[in-house]
Amino acid sequence: MGLDDADAQAPLGNRPPQVARQKLVVAHFMVGNTYPYQVADWTKASSKGIDAFALNVGRDSWQPARVADAFTAAVNSKTNFKLFLSFDMSSLPCAAAADAITLRNYLTTYRAHPHQMMYPPGSSRLLASTFAGEACRFGQGTLQAAWHYALRGDLRLPGVHFVPSFFMDPAAFGGLQTIDGSFQWNSAWPMGNSTTNFDADNIYLKNLGGRTYMAGVSPWFFTHYGPDTYNKNFIYRCDDWHFAARWEVLVKHRAEVDLAQVITWNDFGESHYVGPIAGAQPMSEAWTKGFDHQGWLDLMQYYIKAYKTGAYPAITRERVFLWGRLYPANANAPDHVGKPQNWAYTQDYLWGVVLLPSPAMVTLSCGSSTVTSALPAGLSKMRLRLTTDCNVHVKIWKKKAVVLDFAPKGFRFTKHPRIYNFNAFVAASP
Ligand SMILES: *[C@@H]1O[C@H](CO)[C@@H](O)[C@H](O)[C@H]1NC(C)=O
Repeated sequence: MGLDDADAQAPLGNRPPQVARQKLVVAHFMVGNTYPYQVADWTKASSKGIDAFALNVGRDSWQPARVADAFTAAVNSKTNFKLFLSFDMSSLPCAAAADAITLRNYLTTYRAHPHQMMYPPGSSRLLASTFAGEACRFGQGTLQAAWHYALRGDLRLPGVHFVPSFFMDPAAFGGLQTIDGSFQWNSAWPMGNSTTNFDADNIYLKNLGGRTYMAGVSPWFFTHYGPDTYNKNFIYRCDDWHFAARWEVLVKHRAEVDLAQVITWNDFGESHYVGPIAGAQPMSEAWTKGFDHQGWLDLMQYYIKAYKTGAYPAITRERVFLWGRLYPANANAPDHVGKPQNWAYTQDYLWGVVLLPSPAMVTLSCGSSTVTSALPAGLSKMRLRLTTDCNVHVKIWKKKAVVLDFAPKGFRFTKHPRIYNFNAFVAASP
């Protein structure tokens, strides 16, 4: 066992909340992947600590009907679950003034709906967001004029709290007074070969001058489309327990961040879904089939409680969360799409997070690779090098008595992939 393979962390305990402002967690939801959804498919998220879906809507003519179903499902759920629109400006047209009508129609349709998310909570302002939109002009001369026209130019429109994710230099936010805040999509992953931190968040906070900041948090990123389809084939670096590490950054900085957006609930194409594999795949079956990510939901719920309250919840029983790629990063495969860009940013490890109510011994193993740590109560991280064909196995024991023995079905590392699949296999002990 190497010391660097275990990173024990004392729980925060029951510290009083440091800040009074309410913390909210929303999840990015691709309406574009829901063509076959029925009303009953829109459930589950609220039980995991998510307050709302940001409904990413694009140009398909059937999407308004699915949005209507989502609002119906929120009513049927008898929960306080909220929804708001996230206009996908990589899909929706926005060059002409008339293009604003689609956006305004969505906003006026749901302005009085009890499940429309308002911001700040309890106010009469509708929360609205985007994916991109920095190139939109809606027939106007500048970015400021464009969005002012689209969302505020018609007096019949309700008041909107507009927090877009424009991909632009945040130094220009000062001159962009029509935005009420900003969502930083790319804060969810390290943009280079590094671990996550709060640097990019700090730059946004500084430039927003007190306006709303929405941080991104995401477990993974791998997309694998060849030139014959969407032509995007890359990873972001998600090593070093990235999902847990990013949540820990947000918990630590919770005084500065009132809103966190999970990327995503159901974007299968980029492998960062945490919800069930359901609905319609955007030609991503090759890397998502058999890769259910719902094991991440309970780990996320643990962090969401800490983010919202300032105190990590009590741990009442042993849980283990394991994830990793199933193939070596440098393996070759007979795959016409080729290796994803940035493939050399990632190393062949199994990433584990262990929740213990009391100290215990924990052994991670896969074939001849094995690591054992004596861990304290609380949350700890462990990792295991994966080198040869093997099945992942974890055991928690105290004085010879085995408390948990978990060999997740299908969690098999193999040296010879048939395609370049850098998606994460995720397993959570029951
Ligand atoms: C990325 O970082 C890791 C760990 O710091 C290092 O081992 C690896 O060689 C780096 N990869 C590239 C392509 O720089």
